[in-house]
Amino acid sequence: MTDQTRFQLNESDLPKFWYNIYADSPVPPTPVLHPGTLEPVTPDFLSVLFPMDLIMQEISTEKYIEIPEEVREIYKLYRPTPLLRARRLEKALGTTAHIYYKYEGVSPSGSHKPNTAIPQAFYNKIAGTKAMTTETGAGQWGSSLAFACNVFDIELEIYMVKVSYQQKPYRRNLMETYGARVYSSPTDLTNYGRSVLAENPNNMGSLGIAISEAVEVAATSNGTKKYGLGSVLNHVLLHQTVIGEESLKQMDMADEYPDVVIGCVGGGSNFAGIAYPFLRENLKNGKRTRLVGVEPTATPTLTKGTYTFDYGDTAKMAPVVKMHTLGHDFMPPGIHAGGLRYHGMAPSISALHDAGYIDAVAVKQKETFEAAIMFAKAEGIVPAPESAHAVRVAIDEALDAKAKGEKRVILFNLSGHGNFDMAAYESYLSGKLEDYEYPAEAVKESMSKLPQVNLPA
Ligand SMILES: Cc1ncc(COP(=O)(O)O)c(C=O)c1O
Repeated sequence: MTDQTRFQLNESDLPKFWYNIYADSPVPPTPVLHPGTLEPVTPDFLSVLFPMDLIMQEISTEKYIEIPEEVREIYKLYRPTPLLRARRLEKALGTTAHIYYKYEGVSPSGSHKPNTAIPQAFYNKIAGTKAMTTETGAGQWGSSLAFACNVFDIELEIYMVKVSYQQKPYRRNLMETYGARVYSSPTDLTNYGRSVLAENPNNMGSLGIAISEAVEVAATSNGTKKYGLGSVLNHVLLHQTVIGEESLKQMDMADEYPDVVIGCVGGGSNFAGIAYPFLRENLKNGKRTRLVGVEPTATPTLTKGTYTFDYGDTAKMAPVVKMHTLGHDFMPPGIHAGGLRYHGMAPSISALHDAGYIDAVAVKQKETFEAAIMFAKAEGIVPAPESAHAVRVAIDEALDAKAKGEKRVILFNLSGHGNFDMAAYESYLSGKLEDYEYPAEAVKESMSKLPQVNLPA
């Protein structure tokens, strides 16, 4: 152990491979189904939306997938990212625990999302794609893909959930600065958007609706536009494993090994990114690190959702996958952690949670912001509201270790900074933010609208 605070790798330490959990996972992948026929999809169906390289990664069980040199070149703008020991936070808590955090907020758009936006834009570029569509909730994913599409000279249109479009004008401006076109979803540009507006002109949007719009535009473009997704799918989680691979080396530099690894979970990509390389060490090399995904009580996908087949979007256009879900028609409350509002969860995380390899905790909004502010005061960085969920549980672990007089090594992923999220902080600081618990009855009601799949649920 050293008295160092910041553990910084060299450019030459940038990972050369992504790690695929399906090579080692004790639970096999579940089939991805066509939303119309509910039969397993063919690469042909997926190729309407994605280039073949990404489809092959989606279904691959190869353990390591080489990161193309062109992608590594762009990664070098911000990777390897630093890992820090939160010494000042430890002191403020008076804890016997050692707290480390991997900081992904140093990327150009301020979060982990470029780790997958860059390869998605790259594989589209080499497949000849000229234009892409996507959705964004909080704006982190949209600005990351806008950055990456600009690098590879691809046009991008973004369907941004209306509530965020209104709450976060500067995120929208950032996307526009990188050259993307941003629409407030639901729009009147798509059949699905028009049908939603006809039912309720004041609909504030949801990620499920925005995904439906972006998918519809790509699917009806006669192959001229492809679609990019910022979480949930295997290839997205795969790209994020650079976080965990770097962290393993950096924990080694610190001469420690984590007892617990923590990440917030929206669709699951930053959590999988940090956790899967540590899960490999658990499965293959006898380590026993606990892996904890943290979600808001307002969107409790893992802790209250049902593990079953469901549609990936509200309009039932995206593939059906087996996952923890709150129901595809889930209308989220307007909580501030916009990036955690999705109704589903990555299939691999769902399966691993169901089989007991991954733990999940739900935390309330107010205690989350309380933790974020404690962290900001001690360490200087204002966490993104999404990342603050991981901060909350890291602090809870440190306090629990203190109460038990244990030395516990805690590692969490600080997936982004909150410099564009000050409206959420303002809301907390002025006492306007309220806790919300998604009612179990609402989940139960949504379950009656699940697709009727003739496979083991
Ligand atoms: C900073 C940040 N962290 C986490 C998330 C949640 O996504 P995921 O679970 O895919 O990491 C988001 C989503 O937008 C985000 O912006």
